[in-house]
Amino acid sequence: MNNKAIGIFDSGIGGLTVYKALKEKMPDEKMIYLGDTARLPYGSKSAETIIKFSEDNAFFLLDRDVKIIVVACNSSSSYAVPNLQDKLDIPVLGVIEPGAEAAVKWSKGCIGVIGTTATISSKAYDRAILEKDANANIIAKDCPLFVPLVEEGWLQHPVTRLVIEEYLLPLKEQGIDSLVLGCTHYPVLKNSITDVLGKDIKLIDSAEVVTEKVYSILKSLGWLRQGRSVGVQEDEFYVTDFPERFKKVGEIFLNRKIEKVTAVSI
Ligand code: DGL
Repeated sequence: MNNKAIGIFDSGIGGLTVYKALKEKMPDEKMIYLGDTARLPYGSKSAETIIKFSEDNAFFLLDRDVKIIVVACNSSSSYAVPNLQDKLDIPVLGVIEPGAEAAVKWSKGCIGVIGTTATISSKAYDRAILEKDANANIIAKDCPLFVPLVEEGWLQHPVTRLVIEEYLLPLKEQGIDSLVLGCTHYPVLKNSITDVLGKDIKLIDSAEVVTEKVYSILKSLGWLRQGRSVGVQEDEFYVTDFPERFKKVGEIFLNRKIEKVTAVSI
């Protein structure tokens, strides 16, 4: 198992926020990333469709013999993780639990949660947060325009700023002290969101907590890769459409070159 890769999937480039954190913590590990760009966005789809797409993605990664799957998509994590955990023989980890854990640890007052329409209407974050703190005060809001803005690469664009103001200033007015970025695309907008909300509202990105969890699962199973570092150029990136766009926006976000993005049908 040690030399097998870590599999990661998202609907698009959002999961790169998780890939980045995993790679920083575990540079020796090889990663295989799948962005289902042909069927993006997931956030406006039904639970059944998201479960089906998530299964397709997981089986694609399984065919590449990965040792663990990180569901780096909140919309998929909201609906599909228990199903994948039942069906697969390898560990499958979602991003909701880690995000909720970080929010409860940090917040002293009201927790804002933003995500796609699918994630927010699933109430997966509300359940996960309330399980950890039954008295938690939560304000949840879907922000469906953020994903296309990120996929377009409009990270600091004036239009993006206006959309952030429209969605998030009402949460600030309602007194949130923390904001769960409940979509893996949103951390890409962290700087622009901080510009609008100010530094006093803590932005919570589940990538770090997810990374710690993946590390401890692999460690406890004795599955961490031994020996020589795997260079980032050896990681594999697959998308189901528009490889050039993924490469371009992904390189801006990761601030490094992505050697190759391969288009596949799944
Ligand atoms: N990045 C994904 C998430 O965390 C999905 C975005 C989308 O495809 O709508 O929810």
